Amino acid sequence: MAAATGETRGASSPPVPQAVRAVVRERYGPLAEVLHLTSLPVPVPGSDEVLLRVRAVGINPADVFLATGRPAMMRATMGLRRPKHVGCGQDVAGVVEAAGSAVSHLRPGDEVFGEIGIARGAGTLAELVAVPASVLAQKPAGLTFVEAAALPMAGLTALRALRVAEVGAGTRLLVNGASGGIGHMVVQLAKGLGAEVTGVCSARNAEMVRSLGATRVIDYASEDFTRSGEYDVILDNVLNRRLRDVRRVLAPQGVLLLNSGNGGRVLGPLPRMACGYLASMVSRQTIRVFSTTSATREFVELADLVDAGELRVVVADTYPLERAAEAFTRVATGHVAGKVVVTL
Ligand SMILES: NC(=O)c1ccc[n+]([C@@H]2O[C@H](COP(=O)([O-])OP(=O)(O)OC[C@H]3O[C@@H](n4cnc5c(N)ncnc54)[C@H](OP(=O)(O)O)[C@@H]3O)[C@@H](O)[C@H]2O)c1
Repeated sequence: MAAATGETRGASSPPVPQAVRAVVRERYGPLAEVLHLTSLPVPVPGSDEVLLRVRAVGINPADVFLATGRPAMMRATMGLRRPKHVGCGQDVAGVVEAAGSAVSHLRPGDEVFGEIGIARGAGTLAELVAVPASVLAQKPAGLTFVEAAALPMAGLTALRALRVAEVGAGTRLLVNGASGGIGHMVVQLAKGLGAEVTGVCSARNAEMVRSLGATRVIDYASEDFTRSGEYDVILDNVLNRRLRDVRRVLAPQGVLLLNSGNGGRVLGPLPRMACGYLASMVSRQTIRVFSTTSATREFVELADLVDAGELRVVVADTYPLERAAEAFTRVATGHVAGKVVVTL
């Protein structure tokens, strides 16, 4: 069992334990069956990493996909029969315990937040994790650890979506899935850019979406957003409508962003994305997919937006580490208003 020593600058207290509690899954399957609490050795950070004392972990739909192994196509990279890495969780907020020798922007005692990304081995659902310093930024002073842990992946996706589609003053933007993790942040950021935002969500969350800056809210149970209106940009976080129906309300030179892991059990959203790509080739409408790899620079931007009062993080609920499977199950419903966070 390794202790966090070597080429790191450590904090004086508290002492680093020999093992830490962590939530892992050794196989894919139903969330309640595969996610369990265990004890792991304390990781040893590399020279460009920090040892982080985790205080909170935001749960995203991607964490659910990675635990269940659905859609199955992602097993091609994450492990065909069983996960290559047992760790779970990507978003994180915590306190730097020790910093590798090559880390210049973080020191022991710093309160930070960030996202490790699915390709990295370790999960963030552990008391101590080794995290590359390049995916962490100082936590906004006005946010709790819980709020900061809810920010990274959803905030980054919201930021990138608006940039990719060049949303600005006067843009008519429709967000399908406006009340969830990404939706509730994109609505606020778009409003800040001067866009005219229409949000689609359940009636239960309509008031929240309106209060975050949507000019108009469509309750998907009583109105079909593909039947009327015209939008310059559509961010589709749900992918529950036919492509040709969504394109009907997209402006002739509009941009449609396909942003969801939802779809069939094997290929997930891939067939729809392929159709979107082909349709884009023979149309003036742009249909795009975009990905988000985390980087400190954009987390600093998000922190600045929070500090400036332009972005508020809504946390629907928190769960302690030992109830992490319940947090995942809640996210899997696809009906969380804001974010769900696991606390340590
Ligand atoms: N491009 C990337 O790199 C990237 C990064 C992160 C995530 N994603 C993807 O983005 C998607 C959204 O993530 P998220 O964290 O925002 O999910 P989420 O928190 O689960 O939000 C889901 C949203 O969908 C709404 N919704 C559910 N059923 C609906 C329906 N029938 N019609 C319209 N809206 C409906 C929910 O509203 P109600 O609760 O009001 O029903 C809620 O607003 C996920 O599939 C995820 O895989 C992509």
